[in-house]
Amino acid sequence: MNHQTAFSEETLDPEDWASMRALGHRMLDDAMDYIETLRDRPVWQHAPQEVKAHFEGPLPPYPEPPGEVYREYVDYVLPYQIGNSHPRFWGWVAGSGTVMGMLAELLATSTDSVSGAFSYLSNNYVEMQVLDWCKELLGYPPEASGLLTSGCSASNLIGLAVARNTMAGFDVRGRGMQNGAQQMTVYCSDEAHSSIQKAVELLGFGNDSLRRVPVNGSLQIDIGALKAMIQNDRANGLLPVCVVGAAGTTNTAAIDDLNALADICADEKCWFHVDGAFGAWAAIAPGYRHLVAGMERADSLAFDLHKWMYLQYPIGCILIRDAGHHRNAFSLTPTYLAHGEGDRGLTGVDVPWLADYGFELSRGFHALKAWMTFKEQGTEKFGRLIRQNIGQAHYLAGLIKAAPELELALPVSLNIVNFRYTRPGLNDERLDDLNKQIETELQERGIAVPSTVTIHGRRYLHVAITNHRSRRDDFDLLVREIIRIGNELAAEPEQLFPAL
Ligand SMILES: Cc1ncc(COP(=O)(O)O)c(C=O)c1O
Repeated sequence: MNHQTAFSEETLDPEDWASMRALGHRMLDDAMDYIETLRDRPVWQHAPQEVKAHFEGPLPPYPEPPGEVYREYVDYVLPYQIGNSHPRFWGWVAGSGTVMGMLAELLATSTDSVSGAFSYLSNNYVEMQVLDWCKELLGYPPEASGLLTSGCSASNLIGLAVARNTMAGFDVRGRGMQNGAQQMTVYCSDEAHSSIQKAVELLGFGNDSLRRVPVNGSLQIDIGALKAMIQNDRANGLLPVCVVGAAGTTNTAAIDDLNALADICADEKCWFHVDGAFGAWAAIAPGYRHLVAGMERADSLAFDLHKWMYLQYPIGCILIRDAGHHRNAFSLTPTYLAHGEGDRGLTGVDVPWLADYGFELSRGFHALKAWMTFKEQGTEKFGRLIRQNIGQAHYLAGLIKAAPELELALPVSLNIVNFRYTRPGLNDERLDDLNKQIETELQERGIAVPSTVTIHGRRYLHVAITNHRSRRDDFDLLVREIIRIGNELAAEPEQLFPAL
């Protein structure tokens, strides 16, 4: 009996390897072309209605030829993405990716390696080395533990989980938050990222326990107000457990006085967590390390590699000064994953199982893109690029100061520039609308992607420069176009203010 006819066993591997290989080569060529010619294309294109409709079709129960599936991607997916790899994408705070990062992700997924568990595996050594490099670059103690994450939201969650379990004074893992004798409180500035609130909520502190400390004129946490809030909470029988410092806020890149926060935490016996999503990397820019002085004193330090280290999404990191506290918060080993039972084989232990340091068990091999890109470029170049972005922020601020139609919201402290188009005779509400519309026009016309933020109650264009492809002439163009579009819109007030 013919074995093959008796069992029609299937696989997802290609039926025709040669044509799949050819298609793969074409995809890679197209992807390289896409990156090489980014500058020739609009930053962003609005997906038309038919594109949305295309994705409301039926399930594909039967196979379609791989070339046609790819064609659909080229027609309906490729052109309508957010565009953050483009040289003139500066909205929110986004990374721009690297060619080696893309290739490394392809390699990492070609072996489909599960990372962070099991032993005597090269992919784990790569991740441990990337963690060591991050510690060295940021001046964090080498004995600290760490974990690569999907981003700084996850890193903040992990850091605050370790803070909670370490500072609660009782067995939170065993007994649960409802058994704490005192309500625990966490402190951050009014300008802290929303992921801090999410973490506080997820960890059962409750949003009411998150104290939002007012900021000073430079939008840094007000140290006096923080001290007063801690004392007040203590006097009311609450238990202050953690202060979150910002090394670069999303709106303005304000950096809190991290040394002052570290001192307060030492005095008050609080955990010191730093959210350095992008700003932590100012530490490697020649001449700028002083801006984040004190960051190295944090008990936990959260940051991204997919923003200001320019790597492909997703990749973030959390470092914890005391590896024991870190492990205590997360280690849990089901019998089927028992390890440490020998010095050979997948269940031995040669490097820590990173699954013991976070909430996820199965993780992809995202370390490879960091490892290969750092080696390909040399880490010094990243420092120079970060310095270049800071220089570009000051260059843009200079253009704004020189243009009577434009107004800076604040002096530039790092790599974010907030400013607005102004025109005599228009009040603040109208300027808010006008600047929102300028943002939309810049995006819709594919010229550039800034975003907008609200500072002191007013709306500003927000240019966050975490882009290794941007050049000074991109900022010249931005300023020219903002003035042109602003003048256009202001000259046709009925478009902007239909009620007038
Ligand atoms: C200061 C800050 N913290 C945390 C985050 C969250 O990081 P992620 O988007 O990587 O989860 C961001 C995102 O922009 C941020 O700017």
